[in-house]
Amino acid sequence: MWVNRTSVIYGAVLSAILNGRPIDGSSIYSMAPTSQVDETLLRCIGCGAVTPVAESGLNCERCGDLLEVVFPHPGAGSEKLNAATLKAVWRERQTSHLPQDQSGVWRFREVLPSLGKDAPITIREGNTPLYELSLGSRLTGVKQLYAKHQGMNPTGSFKDTGMTVASSFARKDGFNWVACASTGNTSASMAAYAARGGMHSLVLIPDGKISWGKLSQSLDYGAVTCQVKTDFDGCMRVLNGIVQRKRIYVLNSINPFRLEGQKTVAFELLEQFDWKPPDHVIVPGGNLGNSSALGKAFQEMKDLGLITQMPKVSIIQAEGANPLVRTIRERGGKELVSVQAETMATAIRIGSPASWKKALRVLEATGGTVEQVTEVEIALAKAEIGADGIGCEPASAVTLAGLKKLVKQGFVQPEESVVLVLTGHLLKDPDFTLKFHRGDLFTGTHYEKEADVLGSRQRAPIVLEASVDAVLKTLEEAEKRN
Ligand code: F0G
Repeated sequence: MWVNRTSVIYGAVLSAILNGRPIDGSSIYSMAPTSQVDETLLRCIGCGAVTPVAESGLNCERCGDLLEVVFPHPGAGSEKLNAATLKAVWRERQTSHLPQDQSGVWRFREVLPSLGKDAPITIREGNTPLYELSLGSRLTGVKQLYAKHQGMNPTGSFKDTGMTVASSFARKDGFNWVACASTGNTSASMAAYAARGGMHSLVLIPDGKISWGKLSQSLDYGAVTCQVKTDFDGCMRVLNGIVQRKRIYVLNSINPFRLEGQKTVAFELLEQFDWKPPDHVIVPGGNLGNSSALGKAFQEMKDLGLITQMPKVSIIQAEGANPLVRTIRERGGKELVSVQAETMATAIRIGSPASWKKALRVLEATGGTVEQVTEVEIALAKAEIGADGIGCEPASAVTLAGLKKLVKQGFVQPEESVVLVLTGHLLKDPDFTLKFHRGDLFTGTHYEKEADVLGSRQRAPIVLEASVDAVLKTLEEAEKRN
């Protein structure tokens, strides 16, 4: 069982944490008057059982549900974890040259589980830009519209922020092998962090259903990459079987340490907003780890007195991969409605999301909502984000497509501020982008008619003779169109 295989990890982690060992005990502390988490416990999200990390695996031993890191903030409100001190220390670390300060994750280490004396595996993740979306703003009527671009991380997706934490814990406990099931981004990220940390990695991806860009990353980073003849949910099932027979550390988002790292995006975002929360944060929903992490972060910020009000976190899914939307609309959130997922936004082609309960809690706590968008709406929104000079991969574009719907429904008001979390880089899926611009994306599908609206955003490459006249003529035609 995972429990047996992984329990070893937690013993080491807990003892480090309980002994309050700093990350490297050196000069960072001259800049860091605050302490790290004094004690890390894991709490089951189902039955509420709390166990020290030493005695627990990735699932609750009592009821099998997922676990989360409990951060009791022992010093909240005190000098140690005083909100003003934290803000100052986090900002100041940006001028440091130490790897753990240059990481946009580890510079927030006061809200992360402690690695004790070990150095983190970092590729200087985080510290991603916040962009204004002017075209997006005109299209939606939302005057303050921003993109928090997680595609600007080292491997091109938001996964790096969680991977730096969870992979560091894997190495700390002496694991030689790490593994994940993935739609492509987790695997790219895991393979990179494993390589940086001197570990081997095993990738299980659905055969033919992830982008070549992502697949090529895990190959180059040296992972054993298996294209398994099933979908993402099937890959997860195979992985569950493997961990029962081999000592291997699972780096999917069921790993609570992954979500701890992914929390820091929210801290960084609020710092970029000078700690005045935006009204809405909108994220894509796949396995639902990211939305869970963001919600946890906002709650912790409130508990720490860093903010007084949480943004509403809303989750958008593709219509063909909409288990959370259906779970809420058809079952009132009481039980998961699993679906046979199908979408061209392959990153979120997931029918049975592991963290659905955590995500539901976030919606409830923050007052957010769920929405679904069609394949054509995703393609259009992706091109619009591209036309804003930013770009993203298809799964990230569900945020803008969803926002349009939420504005129409009145859930988002034009005068409210909105942040779209763009989870992956444009170059992650160039096939999708090329097909879109050549007008082939929906050829032969039942979306062909609906796809007529895409014409104005399509910019097919133009093949010409090597002649000045030919290029100038093309320019003239383009000017007439604009
Ligand atoms: N956006 C992108 C680009 C993703 O790669 C994923 C998930 C999501 C959104 C959804 O995030 O799962 O936390 O709700 N990709 C995973 C993977 C599943 O294996 O790369 P989530």
